[in-house]
Amino acid sequence: MSAQKSPVARNGSRPRFPLDVDLGDEARFIRSWLENPKIAGAIAPSGRFLARALAQCVNPVARGPIIELGPGTGPVTQALLARGVPRAKLVLVEYEKSFCTLLAKKFPGVKIVRGDAYRLAETLKGVIGEKPSAIVSSLPLLTMPEDDRLTLLQQAFDLMGEGGRFVQFTYGVKSPVPTDLGHNLHVRIQALAPIWLNLPPARIYIYRRAHGPTQFREPPDVIDMILRRSRQAAQEIRDEIAEARARIASNGRGSGR
Ligand SMILES: C[S@@+](CC[C@H](N)C(=O)[O-])C[C@H]1O[C@@H](n2cnc3c(N)ncnc32)[C@H](O)[C@@H]1O
Repeated sequence: MSAQKSPVARNGSRPRFPLDVDLGDEARFIRSWLENPKIAGAIAPSGRFLARALAQCVNPVARGPIIELGPGTGPVTQALLARGVPRAKLVLVEYEKSFCTLLAKKFPGVKIVRGDAYRLAETLKGVIGEKPSAIVSSLPLLTMPEDDRLTLLQQAFDLMGEGGRFVQFTYGVKSPVPTDLGHNLHVRIQALAPIWLNLPPARIYIYRRAHGPTQFREPPDVIDMILRRSRQAAQEIRDEIAEARARIASNGRGSGR
């Protein structure tokens, strides 16, 4: 670990026992979730389709570091490296000590900061020399009050250069950062198509700074979309069966039986 900052305990709770270093990532994650569900935010690490989709949202050759918030056991870190982000450009901010130890073992050469991502400016003070080009977050934003999420986004925009993007995934059905921002924070929001192959399906949102008020319409609700798609598939199957029956019946008539 090339930099270390003590995290500020947000809810005062402490792990009851240290995580074993030789546990599988899933087991490690489940244990972390059992110890502190609000911080872990999920019961399993992101699947590779989601991790890859998140990594696709950054430009690996853009100037400036790329910050990953809440790397956990590192599936998104792995995908960012596979996307071509140089190790020296990647900075991971993780709150959980045992994950930091694991990340340092898995990704030598990548800067790991143990600290609180919601105090981003303070946590990254003296760590990065240039403005980051992107911040990729797996933080469980929905477990935090809206004000904290907005403050995080504001800090992210303050840190990043003009074209910087804040990339966030959610299991929720709408933007995890409120879209009716109503104050000085002008944001352009892009919602990507759901990643159906992740369990549960996840959606990626990209937030960029805007210079005035913008409009954003939420994409249809994921559950509605799943229901609509499966109804459509069921109807297509029924139609095909009906067509096949009709063909069989007309063949039967044609053969004089
Ligand atoms: C939903 S998990 C995502 C882990 C991993 N990126 C993945 O996709 O599987 C959330 C991660 O954020 C970390 N985390 C939660 N609150 C944090 C905070 N305030 N500062 C830094 N990391 C935090 C948790 O320890 C956990 O590793």
